[in-house]
Amino acid sequence: MTGSVGAPAERREGREKVSGTARYAGEFPSPGRAQAWPVPAGVARGRVTGVGTAAALAVPGVLAVLTHENAPRLAEPDDPTLALLQNARVPHRGWFVALVVAETLEAARAGAAAVRVTYDAAEHDVTLTASHPGVYVPEEANGGHPAVREQGDPDGAFGSSTARVDVAYRVPPLHNHPMEPHTSTARWEDGRLTVHTSSQGTGAVRAVLAGLFGLPEERIVVTAEHVGGGFGSKGTPRPDVVLAAMAARETGRPVTVALPRRFLPAVVGHRAPTLHRLRLGADADGRLVSLTHEVTTHTSRIKEFVEQAAVPARVMYAAPHSRTVHRVAALDVPSPSWMRAPGEAPGMYALESALDELATELGMDPVELRVRNEPDVEPDSGRPFSSRHLVECLREGARRFGWSGRDPRPGVRRDGPLLLGTGVAAATYPVMVGPSTATARALPDGSFLVRINATDIGTGARTVLAQVGADALGVPLERVRIEVGSTELPPAPLAGGSSGTASWGWAVHDACAGLARRLAGHVGTLPGQGLEFRADTTGAADAGSDFARHAFGAHFAEVAVDTVTGEVRVGRLLGVYAAGRILNARTARSQFVGGMTMGLGMALTEGSTMDAAFGDFTESDLASYHVPVHADVAGIEAHWLDEEDARLNPMGSKGIGEIGIVGTAAAIGNAVHHATGVRLRELPLTPDRVL
Ligand code: MOS
Repeated sequence: MTGSVGAPAERREGREKVSGTARYAGEFPSPGRAQAWPVPAGVARGRVTGVGTAAALAVPGVLAVLTHENAPRLAEPDDPTLALLQNARVPHRGWFVALVVAETLEAARAGAAAVRVTYDAAEHDVTLTASHPGVYVPEEANGGHPAVREQGDPDGAFGSSTARVDVAYRVPPLHNHPMEPHTSTARWEDGRLTVHTSSQGTGAVRAVLAGLFGLPEERIVVTAEHVGGGFGSKGTPRPDVVLAAMAARETGRPVTVALPRRFLPAVVGHRAPTLHRLRLGADADGRLVSLTHEVTTHTSRIKEFVEQAAVPARVMYAAPHSRTVHRVAALDVPSPSWMRAPGEAPGMYALESALDELATELGMDPVELRVRNEPDVEPDSGRPFSSRHLVECLREGARRFGWSGRDPRPGVRRDGPLLLGTGVAAATYPVMVGPSTATARALPDGSFLVRINATDIGTGARTVLAQVGADALGVPLERVRIEVGSTELPPAPLAGGSSGTASWGWAVHDACAGLARRLAGHVGTLPGQGLEFRADTTGAADAGSDFARHAFGAHFAEVAVDTVTGEVRVGRLLGVYAAGRILNARTARSQFVGGMTMGLGMALTEGSTMDAAFGDFTESDLASYHVPVHADVAGIEAHWLDEEDARLNPMGSKGIGEIGIVGTAAAIGNAVHHATGVRLRELPLTPDRVL
């Protein structure tokens, strides 16, 4: 071991990024490259009856207008949101009904404005309520989780509990809004397709394109060298890549489709709104007797997507009687999709807020209430945890934050017009891992080359994988080069589900450790092409599914609520995590702080409003969809415990990309209650709600 793992190594691509030389998907200007601009549907439900393209084609520079009448026929995709320009149906407002391809972006945009679309519009319904007649219980929630789980007699036990909380919360639709909008550049040459795309995983993009266009995968290359964020919205192929490939084939030119930001809310997914009902019953000592978490959410007419928001309630606390339920209604809305910590982020907002309400009801410290309900095994499955250090996170967070001696009374700390308060919430996120392949090659010059189709979406994946490789080889970090971000490299799963580093790192570790063993037995100089070792990992930990694997954490927040303006200011936000071994202190901190910042946005500023009249989201740019900025938090700290867990992977790591957003909104909401004495149960906590 050379001690690379754990060190705060700087990002390898940092200089390229800050100097503007890192190339993103829209920055591959091959000769003759054309640009395209889509035309979104202007009705929320119905059919296209005609597309007038003459005026658009007359715009100087316009090369083609693709519509459902003339676009290439595609094979039916598994993901219905990718069946673009294949028929006249409009399943939601903003669905693309045409694409204008032109010499320049300006001409494409002018052409798109000149396209005249007529519709046969039908009545639409985009408003989710818990009692919506279309609400049904699906077979499964996302992730293959059963929609319903029930143990014991939750209603009876709730009725006879000493302390009870029966509350409802609402989390609005949210959008990922990465800095780099979804963009693809496509080029066809001799029946081969090359695509540069902004995606969390190019393997899936290639597989989908192969299916849609009826091509063998060997004839397609997809790269994602640098990605300006995704947060789940680039976890699956999006319309840009399909449209770019179609347009390039139709025009015989390379084509870039960079989706305008204002179109994103309708076509690249959103976190579906969730309506929560929680019933917590406890005995006089604060031990949960009954726990019910029921979630109602929406999906689109074309795709069933069920945010698994009641799943964390199956993991967190011991309760002999429990019920967790997911319900969904299919509405005329854009298709929801993955957004950072899908399930856990909205679910833990509700659960951790309700727990705070229970602590108030019991007159018990909210940290102690959580400690008291710590389970011996995973409550829903009965499996032991591979490791669980939630209590240690709560204790360490309380110590660092200065929680002890906190006056529990709400609404009594004043500083002029400000009311001050503090809050706590727990965090959890499952450990996921997938099969992966990597090669490691020793070169005669003494350097090593590691190749794997990992995707660095801004997390520092390249750097961390090089660290893992260097230690497995027993060489200094500088001697390890790494190539990621192309389907030309050994296959590996996407950057999603906080599983990337665990999955890729496992293969990199095994490839490098295998190469080191071969080198140890090698006599003489290396051949010119060097010596290579290839490792395929299944991602299955030794003990299989005998153990429940989750990361845990605790969030603490301090707020000041302005009684004049209704503004909530977060003075301090502090997280402590137990997420296995931390592989790079610098990039890990960045992931945790990034997640907490996104949780701060969820608490205070972010929200997409479904406009019932038009059937689309009102916020369609970063001027109206408010993501937090530096000035929105005065002090933000991320800490972690040295957690050892031998039942994970060779690095001993859990995922860290998502847990930072989990529970942060609850900690802030709980602090707002502590400050004001008022319990707000609908996010975000904007001044109009607070006043
Ligand atoms: Mo994440 S929402 O699994 O990319």
